[in-house]
Amino acid sequence: MSPHPAPTIQAASRQIEGPLLEVTDLRTHFRTERGLVRSVDGVSFTLERGRSLGIVGESGSGKTVLSRSIMGLLPKRNTERSGSVKFEGREVIDLPLADRRKIWGREMSMIFQDPMTSLNPVMRIGKQIGEGLRLHLGMSKVDARATALHLLREVRIPEPEKRLDQYAFELSGGMRQRVMIALAMSCGPTLLFADEPTTALDVTVQAQILELIGVQKRERNMSLILVTHDLGVVAGHTDDIMVMYGGRMVEKAPTNVLFSSMKMPYTEALLKSIPKIEDPSHTRLSVIPGRPPDLVNPPRGCRFAPRCSFAQDRCHTEEPPLMTAEHPEHVYACWYPVGSPSHRARTAELATAMSGGF
Ligand SMILES: Nc1ncnc2c1ncn2[C@@H]1O[C@H](COP(=O)(O)OP(=O)(O)OP(=O)(O)O)[C@@H](O)[C@H]1O
Ligand code: SF4
Ligand SMILES: [Mg+2]
Repeated sequence: MSPHPAPTIQAASRQIEGPLLEVTDLRTHFRTERGLVRSVDGVSFTLERGRSLGIVGESGSGKTVLSRSIMGLLPKRNTERSGSVKFEGREVIDLPLADRRKIWGREMSMIFQDPMTSLNPVMRIGKQIGEGLRLHLGMSKVDARATALHLLREVRIPEPEKRLDQYAFELSGGMRQRVMIALAMSCGPTLLFADEPTTALDVTVQAQILELIGVQKRERNMSLILVTHDLGVVAGHTDDIMVMYGGRMVEKAPTNVLFSSMKMPYTEALLKSIPKIEDPSHTRLSVIPGRPPDLVNPPRGCRFAPRCSFAQDRCHTEEPPLMTAEHPEHVYACWYPVGSPSHRARTAELATAMSGGF
């Protein structure tokens, strides 16, 4: 028998009624010289236990700030925050640092966007993973090292024994990302955030990492929030998808519903920007024209209006509220959604213009 058995640390399953995470009208604004940057501007959603949510949007849409606001990972200085974040029914938005530290690792954990800057460059990998285990789970040094080795095996790092005593800079990008996953999983979190976990990796490694996160989620009965700018990445990996634009949630639905009947022209444009396998090589991707909104002075009305091919007068003056679609869990914020008579008429006009007709 092994002297240090290191079983998979399961997400703590407490029998508590209600959703795992309940975010209500969350706002995170930064005070800057230019004015108040409204990075997250009134986002509300719930996440049930064991489910996975993809958060998708262009660069700067507020995905990372939203995730960090929920985890309580943003410095308080120059930050204005309001709204509510309930985790397992408990308000966590303004907890003191000492209480937030108790949540990190064991209850909520994050795979960060950039492993190179998130891993400690001067601490060996085994020690970095072991520290959390000792702090949160009270393990001895010897047990923490054995568990770190077990975790490195679980994330399928080649030669895990050797990696324990290496530093981050000695590992490849894919290996560093696996270490980040091992670190994030180490204390058996109930909810895992994965913020662009595959952006810096090549396509084959990307697929492996996403698969690994999915396996870990199932085996540990975790909930997952997967953040990405690529709608293709979340397609096969999350139960639900939330689309963000200019600090707001503009569409949310179960994944299959979103792909079969998306309502926001912005979501449609994001979908068109995904490369498709059947596309001949060198096919030009459709990039959404124009720039994301200035979050200090967002446009009046719909924030997507200056870039939207379907915008009409009302879009520039009146902000659309979140409306419920045919599916009760599908919400969207658009006056002239995909499939509406107005959208169909405009699509026909655009097609005629593209083909050079009159
Ligand atoms: N500390 C800060 N002070 C001022 N503005 C900030 C701060 N942190 C983020 N922002 C701004 O908030 C907006 C949202 O940033 P965020 O990092 O959440 O975007 P993102 O959707 O994660 O983008 P990406 O896909 O590039 O990671 C951006 O305009 C960013 O410049
Ligand atoms: S509300 Fe108007 S501008 Fe906004 S996405 Fe819908 S059609 Fe486009
Ligand atoms: Mg980000």
